[in-house]
Amino acid sequence: SKADNRLVDMHEFAADMYHHILLNTEEGQAALDYLENRGFTREMIEKYRIGWSLPEWNYISSALQKKGYTEEELTSSGLAIAREQSDGFFDRFRGRIMFPIMNETGKTIAFSGRIMENTKQEAKYMNSPESPVFQKSQVLYNFHLARGSIRKNRKIVLFEGFMDVIAAGKAGVDNALATMGTSLTAQHIRIMKRFAQEVVICFDGDDAGWEAAKRAAIALNEEKFKVEVAVLPGKMDPDDYVRENGSEAFKEQIIGKPHAFIAFAMMHARRHKNFQYENDLLQYIQEVLQLLAGRSTPLERDLYIKQLSTETGLSQEAILQHYRKLENKSVERNRPEAPAQPVRREPKKVT
Ligand code: UTP
Ligand code: MN
Ligand code: MN
Ligand code: MN
Ligand code: MN
Repeated sequence: SKADNRLVDMHEFAADMYHHILLNTEEGQAALDYLENRGFTREMIEKYRIGWSLPEWNYISSALQKKGYTEEELTSSGLAIAREQSDGFFDRFRGRIMFPIMNETGKTIAFSGRIMENTKQEAKYMNSPESPVFQKSQVLYNFHLARGSIRKNRKIVLFEGFMDVIAAGKAGVDNALATMGTSLTAQHIRIMKRFAQEVVICFDGDDAGWEAAKRAAIALNEEKFKVEVAVLPGKMDPDDYVRENGSEAFKEQIIGKPHAFIAFAMMHARRHKNFQYENDLLQYIQEVLQLLAGRSTPLERDLYIKQLSTETGLSQEAILQHYRKLENKSVERNRPEAPAQPVRREPKKVT
């Protein structure tokens, strides 16, 4: 609609302005130094149209007003926030490194702004609120740049953060996407499904990243993607890894050596467990079998039950028996519901 186009134009104008301030002004220098320290080249800054918002109360909103946008448009875009106690409004993003979030045609529809210093008082990233042109549950960062490569490879590499997408791009991994700080939704998956059959999940190496990776892997597996998980050493994230070990190592050792879905699930289940404790051991078997049930081919089942047996010292027969029980339950769960009205069939005519 016309109103939506105006919201997009406002974001495009703001993106240009932030980008210009970062690259060409004295006020942008500290942010430029910060980015340089993090390994951003000029080329990367331009490719992702990164910018800087001045630490002033009404910088972008004044500029937009001068262009003829109304207060209502300013606040509904999310670029300005209405004051609560008095009239007026102020810029949402002040003193932040600005990452434009683009729609599938490459037009800016929202921003995420990073503070330069990590503090406890302020969120590291501030994001645009939802608006008529920005629905978080449907936006995948970098989609417009990655689409060609995704279509060609039928494969997506999915990251947790857009900083990781940018680091991956630097390393030559072009089919990279990330959600905008939300977990993967059914809408995200539907979009991904239009272009790819395979996903490599590469989330942060901390506990939150492992948990999110497992949830994403299950959700994608249910939608019939071939799912693999690339695991990072320690608590590193992909961006940390690229900076520490370089692009080649990232491409070859991490993205190039992903783990099959079930193998990853086994690694996940082993984390923080000590097989000296029988509870941990039983819990481990339970978690793995739960995931295998209803999801594995006979060959996979055989493979992983053998592996479980070797790891735990329990017999394959006992493990298989337990697996069968879980599988029956899983079949029970997945059985389509009986129709409310029994379907009536005409009795067969005997001729
Ligand atoms: P991370 O905390 O892993 O950020 O959050 P990061 O990508 O490693 O960023 P750097 O390297 O510290 O700069 C992953 C994603 O979660 C969302 C963002 O979308 C981010 O990309 N997030 C995180 C927020 O929205 N707000 C926050 O305060 C933190
Ligand atoms: Mn993280
Ligand atoms: Mn590995
Ligand atoms: Mn991270
Ligand atoms: Mn990071």
